Amino acid sequence: MLDIQKIRADFPILSEKVNGKPLVYFDNGATSQKPQIVIDAIAKYYQEINANIHRGVHTLSQLATDAYEISRVKIQHHINAKFSHEVLFTSGTTHGINLVTNGFASILKPGDEVIVSSLEHHSNIVPWQMLCEKTGATLKVIPMNEEGELIMEAYDALLSEKTKVVTVNHISNALGIINPIKYMIEKAHAVGAAVLIDGAQAVPHLKPDVQDLDCDFYAFSGHKMCGPTGTGILYGKEEWLNKLPPYQGGGEMIKEVTFEKTTYADLPHKFEAGTPNIAGGIVLGTAVDYLNHIGFHNIHQHETHLLEHATKRLLEIEGLKIYGTGNKASVVSFNIDGIHPYDIGSIIDKLGIAVRTGHHCAQPIMNFFCIPGTIRASFSFYNTKEEIDIMVEAIKKAKTMLS
Ligand code: ALA
Repeated sequence: MLDIQKIRADFPILSEKVNGKPLVYFDNGATSQKPQIVIDAIAKYYQEINANIHRGVHTLSQLATDAYEISRVKIQHHINAKFSHEVLFTSGTTHGINLVTNGFASILKPGDEVIVSSLEHHSNIVPWQMLCEKTGATLKVIPMNEEGELIMEAYDALLSEKTKVVTVNHISNALGIINPIKYMIEKAHAVGAAVLIDGAQAVPHLKPDVQDLDCDFYAFSGHKMCGPTGTGILYGKEEWLNKLPPYQGGGEMIKEVTFEKTTYADLPHKFEAGTPNIAGGIVLGTAVDYLNHIGFHNIHQHETHLLEHATKRLLEIEGLKIYGTGNKASVVSFNIDGIHPYDIGSIIDKLGIAVRTGHHCAQPIMNFFCIPGTIRASFSFYNTKEEIDIMVEAIKKAKTMLS
């Protein structure tokens, strides 16, 4: 069992007041809060070893390079990648996905098909649409059902020898639904398609094993897993990363440059042009250590209790409907009959409660349910049942004011 009060003491922001009330932070799907150890590690980097990496023989440059590469190896072990050069530092999930779609622009041909799911965040729809426009490939969409789950029979029927890429999130940001990605990856590989998994919403809740999943790409962000903003990882299988062209040209991604021809650096540097977010990359390793210290088994257990409690308490409210009722992570997305989600969100904000309201960058899901958006409470291991009770009482109050 986790000692939640002890864990909460690691997060200075959790003892702040917002609008004069103790903060209840339920917008973890948007970004997680940061423990003191992560905040301190950022300052420590700038105070003690700030220098550019892979560029200098001087001591500071070597110290910064070592710390950056140690972090890469830490993340390699965390996701169980075979090689550390399969772990690319990015600025976040969106960057990782765009790196891949950019690469596939030189691979896809008219008549090829890309399959996305109807549960995707815009960042895993738009880059693929842009790619299809560029290459003449066709975008196919896996439909969903009323429970918010992808329909696997429909997915199976979409797959063919024309399918070149399948892309799906591990966990839906808007509903919290956990997709059966292992099955989907196996099926895609059976027709020779590559698979990208958007793991942005999964990594705060679980530890992905990319070799066991056998995915070709797995993209995620650091800031949703207690790390700094502007950090992320793209895992790519070595053979795919060798096949794809570089995303950006610039310093450090080259072997040799002449005006006639440039040859590219080996992995991972081929995809890491320019000075990266050095502090961010190093401190992402600190965040990963912190989460592993808490333990993903413990995180799962505690978050399951939070989800059960929130679901039960919210359903006490008359007219409240939860969207996404299948197998899911600790996220509740809901509406109250006749009330706009923004109105509830604004009122409970005045009571110190942070939730996300709107379409959550997943408009196709909102269109499916014929709603403008939802109120989304997304929980983390540092949240408590008492906080959920505070939110439920605040929603009841807001409902009375708005009815
Ligand atoms: N993708 C983030 C969310 O779902 C920002 O809130």
